[in-house]
Amino acid sequence: MKKKYILDLNPGDEVEDFFMIKSFASKIASNNKKYFDFTLYDKTGEINAKLWDVAEEKSDYQEGRIIKIRGKVSEWNGSNQIKIIKVRISSEKDQCDLKDFIKTAPEESKEMYKYILEKAESIKDDQLKKITLELIKKQEKELLYYPAAMKNHHAIMGGLLFHIKRMLMMAENMCLVYTNLRKDYLMCGVILHDIAKLYEMESNEYGIVSDYTTEGHLLGHIVQGIKMVEKAGEALGIDREKLLMIEHMILSHHNEPEFGSPKRPMFPEAEMLHYLDQIDARIYDMEEALNQTKAGSFSDKIWTMHNRKLYKSKE
Ligand SMILES: [Fe+2]
Ligand SMILES: [Fe+2]
Repeated sequence: MKKKYILDLNPGDEVEDFFMIKSFASKIASNNKKYFDFTLYDKTGEINAKLWDVAEEKSDYQEGRIIKIRGKVSEWNGSNQIKIIKVRISSEKDQCDLKDFIKTAPEESKEMYKYILEKAESIKDDQLKKITLELIKKQEKELLYYPAAMKNHHAIMGGLLFHIKRMLMMAENMCLVYTNLRKDYLMCGVILHDIAKLYEMESNEYGIVSDYTTEGHLLGHIVQGIKMVEKAGEALGIDREKLLMIEHMILSHHNEPEFGSPKRPMFPEAEMLHYLDQIDARIYDMEEALNQTKAGSFSDKIWTMHNRKLYKSKE
């Protein structure tokens, strides 16, 4: 039977299909009976599902597991929800295809990595080129699957590469318009600005992040990135001022103290880096929200965009 995706479910539909568990909790209802509360997902979205009046004591409903559900879709507070009739954990015999559940970047990771490597190689300044290449080549394996975020923008397999690639494409064009921008610095800044996300988050090989690392929690990718650049720069004998320029671009790319940047950008390439980062994250989040919105209606409120609702036009 062909898989029915979450995006295509409507109130009243009967469901008999596989979903991946995003979160699970055993709770007590107002009638004092236990119920299971699931957040399920596939590559098209998420849905809440509930199994009422549970007698089971223990369960193996861990995050990332695929379960088969029989149930009925209803509407609750403006969102779809599944009332589960039957649930079981999938086994190898079910031959589920992970691609149905995991969201991946629209381009091949290897191709995106190649693109970024070529751009790094085209940096004319020897020292900027050296440190950029050193830091990406070392992490090729992780770069191929890492997302750019735990939730929100580019929280998909290969998302970090996709984010860097699209920013590089914009950066090249911005340098044609704003000829005062030093392209070498901007390209280097784009490639390295989020590189420490590889150490900020714990991701499995499908780009699903379980949590932040201890260092990620305590320091965050901005400080971690500066540490990486400082260490690699010293080992490679990079000029102090060049290192400071790269470190400042990383430091200021979130622009505001409340978003993790202790200083605002202090030169044009750093300012531009911040905007490119914003554009890519925002447009990505808008595209995602609209993909899950029916034509002629509004999206859910988007937390990362001042709780705005987006409108999807009829054509
Ligand atoms: Fe960042
Ligand atoms: Fe970024």
